[in-house]
Order: sequence, then structure tokens, then C-alpha cells
Amino acid sequence: MGMIGYKSEVGVVALAAAAVVAIPFVPRGFRLAAVPLWAALSRMVASGSTNRARPASHKASAEEQKRSPFVVRPDMEIQDRPVAIVTGTNSGIGLHTAAGLALEGYLVVATGRTKTVADIAVRRVHAAAQRKRAADPKRYEHCPETLFVAAGVVENDDFKSIRAFADWFKKRFASHNLVLLVNNAGAMQKALTFSRHNLQIETTTAVNFLGPMLLTELLLPLLEQNGGGRVVYVSSEAHRAGQMFVEAAQSGARLAGSLKGRLLAAVKAVNSGKEGASGPLAGAEPIANFRRYGMSKLLGTYYTHHVARRYRTAPAQSRVVACSLHPGCVVTNFSNKLLGGEHALPARIFRSVGLLFFKSCEEGAQTTLHCAMCPKEELELEYPLPAKKGEAATKKPEDAVSRYFVECSAKTHSMLLPCGWDVEEAENVVAWGKGLIGV
Ligand SMILES: NC(=O)c1ccc[n+]([C@@H]2O[C@H](COP(=O)([O-])OP(=O)(O)OC[C@H]3O[C@@H](n4cnc5c(N)ncnc54)[C@H](OP(=O)(O)O)[C@@H]3O)[C@@H](O)[C@H]2O)c1
Repeated sequence: MGMIGYKSEVGVVALAAAAVVAIPFVPRGFRLAAVPLWAALSRMVASGSTNRARPASHKASAEEQKRSPFVVRPDMEIQDRPVAIVTGTNSGIGLHTAAGLALEGYLVVATGRTKTVADIAVRRVHAAAQRKRAADPKRYEHCPETLFVAAGVVENDDFKSIRAFADWFKKRFASHNLVLLVNNAGAMQKALTFSRHNLQIETTTAVNFLGPMLLTELLLPLLEQNGGGRVVYVSSEAHRAGQMFVEAAQSGARLAGSLKGRLLAAVKAVNSGKEGASGPLAGAEPIANFRRYGMSKLLGTYYTHHVARRYRTAPAQSRVVACSLHPGCVVTNFSNKLLGGEHALPARIFRSVGLLFFKSCEEGAQTTLHCAMCPKEELELEYPLPAKKGEAATKKPEDAVSRYFVECSAKTHSMLLPCGWDVEEAENVVAWGKGLIGV
């Protein structure tokens, strides 16, 4: 029940509709009890996909210590902590990702769009981490007591702010070891809008694709040092929507290599400023906002895939790994923004009813935490399954695909490849994006 709901937007809607239809059939006396029962059951189901991949503690076996990205010691000084950057940490999934990493011993750089927001984010991350530790002290008994969280300023569609952040980070953390970049910050718009910093560029393209790409490109030289780090991109199952409109025959069949330039053409057409925007992504109807969002998440996934492939043959000491993920359907500030703001009635109703079908922010951060901390081997590239049963699987390097995670496990074959995945289109889209951001 819950797994279907939590994972996919379609699942949530279907489950909610089924619940409404079922209510009249529940005996009157049980109706009041049914809601809390349902809520308790959903929480139990959601906790089933909790991240269990954690860095080894100094007490772990030699084998575990070898597999883990680093070994946690309770007396770790700030200088020894591995550094993680998490973007968009003032609310939602990013906030709980940063808190989870800080508790495990990472020195976390938590970013917000302005210095004020970033400082608030740091305070919230501390508070969330302390609450988590107080709720489950045994779980964190091998982790360092002191939490280190620093504030950074990143506005995804303001490329100057991204370059300024990268320069600041390189100076401020010159002697530290950057091991992880979580590209979490992202948003959907309520209408077709263009970035106020780049008037030709459609906002979701800038926020969910171009900004994270620029930040990653600027930080990759640091991630390559000291054994190679990782890049984790918080995508969305909505990435399927971006392809559906160009792939009308999309029906769950494997359609690898089917885009043939059509997605790139549509992306270029919408990224032509307010006056010039055209094509299938430039619609004004409400569903078009979801399409643009899905398209931008697909582009971000393409870029993450490009990073993973770039380092495929790099030596182990400088090899960066990269993956994308769908966090599930999560009640965060995301829906508040779309439903008129935190205090608006629709947003309030959605928040309370939503928790019967959606994940909480902490539950929503689990897949990101898994990708951040799991052994690197779990993030190895995958190959498409053979087109027909009985045929040999291809292992051609050009077919290798970066992994896509859902519910803390790799779901590349069910969530990514059947959606018209096209590695050639990915390279062309990335080349176009790089031209825009100047890298
Ligand atoms: N919630 C879900 O069900 C769901 C499902 C699939 C994927 N996701 C993805 O999960 C990620 C986290 O979202 P969330 O659900 O936790 O929503 P959220 O609570 O709204 O968090 C989004 C974060 O991104 C930041 N952000 C938005 N636009 C930005 C920009 N232009 N520059 C810099 N930061 C920006 C927000 O900052 P401000 O508060 O300043 O706007 C906020 O910190 C997003 O990438 C989202 O697309 C969410």
C-alpha cells in the first residue's frame, strides 16, 4: 500500500482516491479509528526504507571499515571531518539530509539563497540533528558529539552566486577534504517564468539543471582529490513527464535511444526568453508546469550521468562517482509554495492529509542519505538489460548508465531506462548546457 503511494505521484493519487471510495464501506464505528490506524501503518511502511548504509565506526570490523567511505571516531576534530555540501537546506529534504550527515560526523556546508536564509538553515540543521540524536541516542553513540555545520550562499539560477560560492569554499576549506556534493535545491514554478538573473533562460531549466551543473563543474577538481568523492542529484520521478510529450508511444516498453534530438529541440525552444519561447514545453496550461519541471529533472539526471561516465576509467584515487534519485512523495515546503504559501488553507489541508499518503521530510531524506554514505561500489554504472529474453546483455562502454535510486536501492532498470532513456541525447543536452554556463 504505502510503498506504491510513497514512491510515485500516480500511486499517491490512486491510493487517496481508493481511500475516499472505501470510506463509505467502513462500518461507522470504525471510521474514527481508521484514520490514526492508517497513519500509524503508513509511518511503519515509510520507516522500512530507512538508510542503513552508514560510515563505519572505529569499532566496526576491518572488512566494514574497508568498504566504508570513512571511519567515524567520537573524538574527530573539525580538520579531520570529511566535508559535504548540501544545497537548499533551509527546509524539507535538504534540511534533514544535512542533519543526518552532520550527526554521522561530516562537516556540512548548508546552503541557502541568501546569507540570512543560510544562517537560519544552519540553526535548523543543528536543532533537527539534536532532536534526532535525543530520540535515538544508541544509534549515534559511535558518532562524534560535536556537530559542525557552516553556512554558504547559493542561488541556483544566479550563476554569479554559484561562482562566488565556489571561490569562497575553495579558500575557506582549502585544507579540508570535500567528499560529497548533494545537489538538492530545486523547485517547480506555478507558470512559465524566466530567471531574473538570465532573462533568456526558463526558470526550472536554470534551477534544476544549469545551476547544479555549474556548481558541480566548479567543485569537481576538489572532489577528485583524496580518493575521489561523490555527486548525488535529487531528481524526481517527474523526470518521466519530460519525455512523455516527445515519446507519445511511451507505455512502459523499453525505448532506449528514442529521443533523437527532439528533447533538446524542445528545451532550446522554451529557453528563448519571454518573447521567443515556443514549442511543446512553452504551454501555459497548469500541466505544462509539471512537464517543464519533469524535463528539468531529466536534464539534471542526464548531467549526473555524464559526470559518472566521465570518471568511468579514472584511477581509483581520483575517481568521482555520481548518481540520481527520486526521494518519494514528501510533504515539504515544495507543496506550500505551489498552494499559496505555508499559511494558506489549501497548503494546511494538504500538509495534514498528505502525511497519510506521503513521507515526512525526515523519511524523504533517507534515499539521499543512502546514496551519500553507501559503499562506492553501489554507485557503479549499470548496463541496459537485453532487449529480448535470452539475448546476451550488452557491456559496451557507451551504453553504461549511472544509477538511479528509489527507496534506498538502485532502480535504474525500472525507473530510468524504460522512459526513453537516451545516452546520446544526454551528451548533446549537456554540451548545450555547458555552452550556456560557460564551462
Ligand atoms: N517533495 C517531494 O515530494 C519531491 C519529490 C521529488 C523530488 N523532489 C525534489 O527534492 C528537492 C528538495 O525539495 P523539497 O521537497 O525538500 O522542497 P523544499 O522544502 O521547497 O526545499 C527546496 C529547497 O530548494 C531551494 N531552492 C528552490 N529554488 C532555489 C533556487 N533558485 N536557488 C537556490 N535554492 C533554491 C529552496 O530554497 P527557498 O526556500 O529559498 O525557496 C529550498 O531550500 C528538490 O530538488 C525537489 O525537486 C521533491
